[in-house]
Amino acid sequence: MNSAQRERFLEELFEFLKIPSVSADPAYSGEVKKAATWVAQALEKVGCQQIEIIETPGHPIVYGAIEVNPEYPTVLVYGHYDVQPPDPIDLWSKPPFEPYIQKTDIHPEGAIFARGACDDKGQMYMHIKALELMQEKGELPCNLKFMIEGEEEVGSDNLEDFVRAHTDKLKSDIILISDTGLGSVDQPAITTGLRGLSYMEVTVTGPNRDLHSGLYGGTVANPINILADMIAQLHTAEGSVNIPGFYEDVVVYSASERTAIEQAPIDDQDFKAALDLDALHGEEGYSTLERKSIRPTLDVNGIWGGYTGEGAKTVIPSQAHAKISMRLVPNQDWEKISALFESHFQSIAPAGVRVSVTTHHGGKPYVMPTDHIGYRAAHQAYEKSFGKAPVALRDGGSIPIVPMFEEVLGCKSVLMGFGLDSDAIHSPNEHFGLWNFYKGIETIPLFYESFKSLWQE
Ligand code: BES
Ligand code: MN
Ligand code: MN
Repeated sequence: MNSAQRERFLEELFEFLKIPSVSADPAYSGEVKKAATWVAQALEKVGCQQIEIIETPGHPIVYGAIEVNPEYPTVLVYGHYDVQPPDPIDLWSKPPFEPYIQKTDIHPEGAIFARGACDDKGQMYMHIKALELMQEKGELPCNLKFMIEGEEEVGSDNLEDFVRAHTDKLKSDIILISDTGLGSVDQPAITTGLRGLSYMEVTVTGPNRDLHSGLYGGTVANPINILADMIAQLHTAEGSVNIPGFYEDVVVYSASERTAIEQAPIDDQDFKAALDLDALHGEEGYSTLERKSIRPTLDVNGIWGGYTGEGAKTVIPSQAHAKISMRLVPNQDWEKISALFESHFQSIAPAGVRVSVTTHHGGKPYVMPTDHIGYRAAHQAYEKSFGKAPVALRDGGSIPIVPMFEEVLGCKSVLMGFGLDSDAIHSPNEHFGLWNFYKGIETIPLFYESFKSLWQE
């Protein structure tokens, strides 16, 4: 990659980042479409064929392929062009869809700031530019297929139907995804695990209308007080999840497996310092790395009700609400966990309120064995590119379509992520290191080479 290419790749990414493809908000659906078209054109420019923008009941899926030799293995590249809502917008230093470069302590060479810079536009675009570089050299060791969706951040509702209906079209020897983290710049890591997810919403309803808190305070159950109390009951004093049956299917790891987890380049002191915390918090008996990888968790993501405007208003609200997510690990089943949550949450509701529980979406956990040919190819690629052997990292986030691909396509996914936990994905001032962006573009072609030789063995 020469400097003219570096510059142009960045300019192109800026153009992409300027499209506010927020999948969660219907007001942006035109922009999401625009981003899909942009991706299709970018694929076409680097020589992909069979380009399609496939409409779904939600946002479109972009497909493109390049076949070099039927004797070569086929790699399916997955990514997403949709982004999280930028809220809270006031906390951004500059507008979220006006990308700019700024240096940070962790990215002294500069980082690209914009919503989607890391998750996942920047990381997905690395694959398109890696293909461009390989085309330039005239060396494509694998046949490629690209499937880039626009609904990852809202649960990939329509991707499964598409995948089920096109198993032949999507047939491949491995799936390659850059939508996770690198661990650290000094010690690269390859993701070997993702957590599952179960996402719930609860509503506690008390009196049939909002009440004056003087006239009624002390006489009726206040839904917000009750909801807070119920939420507090969802954890034990030891920090474990207090739902009967929650841990029933959780895989217990051996001492040697637990030692291996500690190889990941994350250290408690740095972890605290990066978040301005004086202490970390979690399940007793487990390290930070274990708490964010092999242990399931429960978190409230949002809570609302009553008066939250300027000044004071004395009111007992009729309703209180919360969004609650649970991160799951092997072999928890998200549908079973959602059902356990619902019946438990109903059972702890006191008289005087009604509780409703709904399930938003869920997903299975995922594990990539390190002796798999896909992992070994990634390991070789990282070793060449970074000059250092990568370690395996079980990550805490979720990409529910990865286990779905395994189930429907019978194909494993390699998670070659280049982001850092400090890149603030889903948060204000999301960014992606320039070094990481270019390193990704350089590492991806090495993966194809390694994969081809291992596959041909
Ligand atoms: N790319 C992330 C997942 C991720 C990030 C995994 C970093 C590991 C490391 C993805 O876009 C995401 O945000 N997934 C959601 C789940 C989805 C169903 C909304 C998540 O993990 O909350
Ligand atoms: Mn993502
Ligand atoms: Mn995301």
